[in-house]
Amino acid sequence: MANTWRTGFHTQREEVHDVALDVAGSFPSWLDGSLVVNGPGEFEVGDTDLGHWFDALAMLRRIRIADGTARYTNRFVRSDDFRAAREEGRIRRALPGTPADGSALSRLRRAVDGDFQDNPSIGVVDLDGTLYAVTESPVGIEIDPETLETTGRRDLTGGLDCDVTLGHTHVVDDVQWGLGASFGRRSSYTLFRRPGDGDPESVTRLVFDGHPPYIHAFGLTDRYAVIPAAPFGVDFRRLALTTLRGGTFLDEFRRRDAPARFHVLDRQTGEAVAAVPADPFFIFHLANAYEDDDAVVVDCVAFGNERAVTALTVSNLRQDDPDLPQGDFVRFRLPLDGGRATRETLHRGPVEFPTIHYRRYNGRPYRYAYLAATDRGSLPTAVAKVDVEAATTRRWSAVGLHPGEPLFVPSPSPSAEDDGVLLSLALDARGDRSVVCCLDAGTLTELARAPLPHRLPYGFHGQFYGETDPGRSMA
Ligand SMILES: [Fe+2]
Repeated sequence: MANTWRTGFHTQREEVHDVALDVAGSFPSWLDGSLVVNGPGEFEVGDTDLGHWFDALAMLRRIRIADGTARYTNRFVRSDDFRAAREEGRIRRALPGTPADGSALSRLRRAVDGDFQDNPSIGVVDLDGTLYAVTESPVGIEIDPETLETTGRRDLTGGLDCDVTLGHTHVVDDVQWGLGASFGRRSSYTLFRRPGDGDPESVTRLVFDGHPPYIHAFGLTDRYAVIPAAPFGVDFRRLALTTLRGGTFLDEFRRRDAPARFHVLDRQTGEAVAAVPADPFFIFHLANAYEDDDAVVVDCVAFGNERAVTALTVSNLRQDDPDLPQGDFVRFRLPLDGGRATRETLHRGPVEFPTIHYRRYNGRPYRYAYLAATDRGSLPTAVAKVDVEAATTRRWSAVGLHPGEPLFVPSPSPSAEDDGVLLSLALDARGDRSVVCCLDAGTLTELARAPLPHRLPYGFHGQFYGETDPGRSMA
């Protein structure tokens, strides 16, 4: 049978503005706000096919839901990378899996100077009332939340001694907690806090050699930042030569000569509380982390090795039977008084894109995690709800649908942790279009489905910005 999900890795250049959607079923009357999701839009620049899922030009999608109706807007982010791509057919800066255009020497100079892409396809973040599209880059691209037009850019590294900031951050009580990173012969990750209306302050720094761990996201408890340092990452000692030869980050993404560790940092004092060794893991996303007596619990999607990154080439993903690694939903328990992390499987995968009732339960004991799950093939085919207390799972699926990240939106006065809905942008491979799905988070039954006017490439992360509930829904 043909690969039905491969259309999720093909370009959509069409942009539409404020189109009313037909809704089958009904959205809850209280659901009032905008789902804004970031992800790939275009997989080619000029005559070049981009090599990796993370290379594609970023396109924002917005579903405005109010009074049971839904309206849709999508728009490419007008980054400098986008302009060079569209206007000159040129790859301006090296992308994770595609080398920059230009001479070998200019590529090398950019690599040495630390010039980074500004194409922000990972997610969006609201900082002090302004929306930014973000990725692992020095800048956030400012977005008009109504039209999705690009309105400016902000140096997110300003005031910090780092090259880039990570796309995944936490915002707690209007303070953003994030990681800045510097790469080179001596690499580092800097934990920082950015007050809503102020400059960022460095809290502490983890220093590595020229082959640092790749870190995509981290956990935040009441007292600690919990940073997963995988024994896999880009070997920056070799990257310059590889860049000179036309290679990419992916070519130097390999096993480090260092064990897996979770770094537990006191987020007020910066004290390194523990560096807890663990069996090898590769982690993109944490569902949650919280303190439990003399330990920290970390629930996350864990892969076995770096193929979690290197296998996500567009050519592999477009195959009938892509060779992809499996991520499981697991719980690490980190003793803070010595000893190794223990690991327990909460739900066997493949799963990805974990979310929780973020605003109320992030950093605290919780019961429910929601994930995109895969029953067959490669892209997710279901939404899974894992009860981490009872160790049970519910699943929802619909024929031909490939759900993206299921984002939890709490009801206005929730009576239980799972009193709310899940919103997911799904690919309807058979209908060759995308749809927004709304599930009851308690029962995992479908409440509403609204087809979009076109098919979108399979996306990454979103946020729900509510009129009555402006809280965040995920990290
Ligand atoms: Fe991510």
